[in-house]
Amino acid sequence: MNTPPPNIARVYDYLLGGKDNFAADRALGERIAVALPQVHLGVQAQRAVLRRVVDHLVREAGLRQLVDIGSGLPTAENVHQVAQRVAPETHVVYVDNDPAVLTHARALLADNKQTVVVDGDLRHPAELLADPVLHAHIDLDRPVGLLLCGILHYVLDDEDPYGVVRTLVDALPPGSYVFVHHLTTAGPDVDAGTAEAEEALRQGVGRGQFRTLDEVAGFLNGLELLDPGVVIVPEWRPDADTPSPADHPVLRLAAVGVARKS
Ligand SMILES: C[S@@+](CC[C@H](N)C(=O)[O-])C[C@H]1O[C@@H](n2cnc3c(N)ncnc32)[C@H](O)[C@@H]1O
Repeated sequence: MNTPPPNIARVYDYLLGGKDNFAADRALGERIAVALPQVHLGVQAQRAVLRRVVDHLVREAGLRQLVDIGSGLPTAENVHQVAQRVAPETHVVYVDNDPAVLTHARALLADNKQTVVVDGDLRHPAELLADPVLHAHIDLDRPVGLLLCGILHYVLDDEDPYGVVRTLVDALPPGSYVFVHHLTTAGPDVDAGTAEAEEALRQGVGRGQFRTLDEVAGFLNGLELLDPGVVIVPEWRPDADTPSPADHPVLRLAAVGVARKS
């Protein structure tokens, strides 16, 4: 029997302990885990910081519109659940280019009028901005929270990742926020297999480009960075139960930042 090749959303689902994955996804997940033992802690930390950021954007910044590009397969504590727990009227648009993600998300959201799913590709931001479903749910004259969590490392340098983000940010009104979560190359104090993990992703799903902390910060250039700036994941407004990077060096391999457009 032919099994589908590995795919980003399903490998991530596997690493999160989900069931929406096939043999090839599990094999690639295991290969990444050999390069980066404890990678599952990294993906859990990614979900946790996404929850902290969404809670901040809705509760503290008062946003009522979120666009989550590269939303992934539904899992626990999805963006709309975190946001609408604080403010049920919050509109959420999920965007992904994976048909399996779109099918799952649509089924999950059938009864939720505030949340929609758009078939779109981050690498084509102008098309995304022209999408009629996005326009029906998001008023681009009112502040928007743009979530780019765990996706920009799949946009390669020759696909103009900085231009992509600029096009999206230019379309947002003042008072909007941008969140970036990005895999990073290991610092001198981390003895971790980022190069092997990057290569496994490249061979497995055809793409993957880790960037330095400075390169990640570059995505938020020209915006007002919120404290504590662009930092490794556990340092962004940790909860009492956020694991420490001193105990788990794998947590140093992704950076996040939130910035406001003035
Ligand atoms: C690792 S998952 C991240 C899920 C979620 N944002 C999170 O952080 O937990 C990356 C998602 O980005 C999607 N993706 C990758 N490249 C994309 C692109 N160019 N346009 C839209 N979605 C993309 C994949 O299909 C996948 O669902």
